[in-house]
Amino acid sequence: MSSSFYSRPTSFLMFSFHFLLVAYTAGAANFYNDFDITWGGGRGKIVGPGDILTLSLDRISGSGFQSKKEYHFGRIDMQLKLVPGNSAGTVTAYYLSSQGVNHDEIDFEFLGNTSGEPYTLHTNVYTQGKGEREQQFRMWFDPTSHFHTYSILWTPQTIVFLVDETPIREFQNMETIGVPFPKNQPMRLYSSLWNADEWATRGGLVKTDWTHAPFMASYRNFNVKAGHVMSQPNLAHRQKLRWVWKNHMIYNYCTDAKRFPRGFPPECKVKFRN
Ligand SMILES: *[C@@H]1O[C@H](CO)[C@@H](O)[C@H](O)[C@H]1NC(C)=O
Repeated sequence: MSSSFYSRPTSFLMFSFHFLLVAYTAGAANFYNDFDITWGGGRGKIVGPGDILTLSLDRISGSGFQSKKEYHFGRIDMQLKLVPGNSAGTVTAYYLSSQGVNHDEIDFEFLGNTSGEPYTLHTNVYTQGKGEREQQFRMWFDPTSHFHTYSILWTPQTIVFLVDETPIREFQNMETIGVPFPKNQPMRLYSSLWNADEWATRGGLVKTDWTHAPFMASYRNFNVKAGHVMSQPNLAHRQKLRWVWKNHMIYNYCTDAKRFPRGFPPECKVKFRN
């Protein structure tokens, strides 16, 4: 699918990569200072001196946390170690979101799988309350054996999703062609671990195996960089993004013609510009 994707004239592929030079002061990450555990009746925990946070999920409930602060542009990094073993049916969501019906949202969602099978990394971008911009990737490493860094870069010009510094997705500001861009509302960082075996496993084909509960995901090294941002093109990033799309993309709403019988959303029609 990805190879034919690249030859489509209407491919959404106008990335001209930027990397950011950001002025910031980074404090030592401490989950006590930066986050509130918001649900789960004790299933979410900040451990030790505040450098690790864990979420867990059992048959009764999942758990979640949110940032105390809101952010308006910047770069957010977090290291996650996902639910190991038979994690089918579990979803670890990690996202920025504003509030209300016209909210903006930048989503990472990690869909667990049966033992030894790869996770799916699901992404989406909501602008002004409208999403339906899913892209999915097969993860190219085992995200459960070690911590890996998942980052969101958000500037007035672009949103970039990064996995261990590798860009996997870019959503550029396309307001000039009528696509709203998250710009005017600050967003909070949220994460949750929940049971989604109704949709996460090929429409409910595989059920969560509760004999493996509680399921647990861990977090560390939260880091925010906010401030004035300059950008410049970066060829290496563009090449990495191409590599991910060519080898690891498993779904792209911009190539799913069945879903958009009346035509693709405007951002999908942007011509390959490279
Ligand atoms: C689990 O792995 C199988 C085999 O690789 C794959 O077909 C399926 O889509 C995966 N499920 C999820 C939720 O990632």
